[in-house]
Amino acid sequence: MDKSEGRVDLKKHWDKAYENSPTEKLGWFEGVPTLSLELIAQCKLDASAKIFVAGAGSSTLIDALLKLNYTQLIANDISSEALDVLKLRIPAADQKRLDYVIDDLTNPTVLKDLTNIDLWYDRAVVHFFLKEVEQQTYFNLIKSTVKKGGFVLLAAFALDGAKKCCGLDVFRYNTQMFQDRLGDDFELVSTQDHTYINPFGDTRPYVYTLFQRKE
Ligand SMILES: C[S@@+](CC[C@H](N)C(=O)[O-])C[C@H]1O[C@@H](n2cnc3c(N)ncnc32)[C@H](O)[C@@H]1O
Repeated sequence: MDKSEGRVDLKKHWDKAYENSPTEKLGWFEGVPTLSLELIAQCKLDASAKIFVAGAGSSTLIDALLKLNYTQLIANDISSEALDVLKLRIPAADQKRLDYVIDDLTNPTVLKDLTNIDLWYDRAVVHFFLKEVEQQTYFNLIKSTVKKGGFVLLAAFALDGAKKCCGLDVFRYNTQMFQDRLGDDFELVSTQDHTYINPFGDTRPYVYTLFQRKE
């Protein structure tokens, strides 16, 4: 299988996941993303802040951010099916505050043009990037898009967490690994372990980290 076929398969894999399950039955569903919202509140962003949600899927974080009156949200995913589910749920009146970008975070095309991001948010996405080149591309994208003073919230399976999600192997993280990837230009604001219980009652240990780019 060549590289491009692998990517197509991955898109299909995620499309199927969203086709086969309603959002609330997905293994990563959160009714209210409480911890994420608490951490985002700490950033004290203006309503006009540009918030990029990497691998957003059909996450309820988007609904919550719209309720908080943010006006410049970008929901990205490799799966068009995921973003279709999200789009169908968001009220028409809110659509103008939300852009949808179908693109692969490990092989970005449209995303290369992103700039001036105030908050880069990733829950349960970065841990799917197994290869060094994918990880490098992903973290380089953060570095080229998040502005000085901007924030990066990364939440991933912890080192003692599950080894798979949605049938795929994962690469688990701790805080230092994120710091090493982001480099000295990003300062750790806060970090905490978090135990997420999925809709099937399974325990999923996460690490939540918030970084700020130095001015
Ligand atoms: C476990 S789900 C998490 C979804 C969402 N962040 C949440 O917390 O509910 C992982 C998401 O990452 C997306 N994804 C996986 N690989 C991706 C890639 N290379 N580029 C963009 N999105 C990707 C999947 O389609 C899926 O929506």
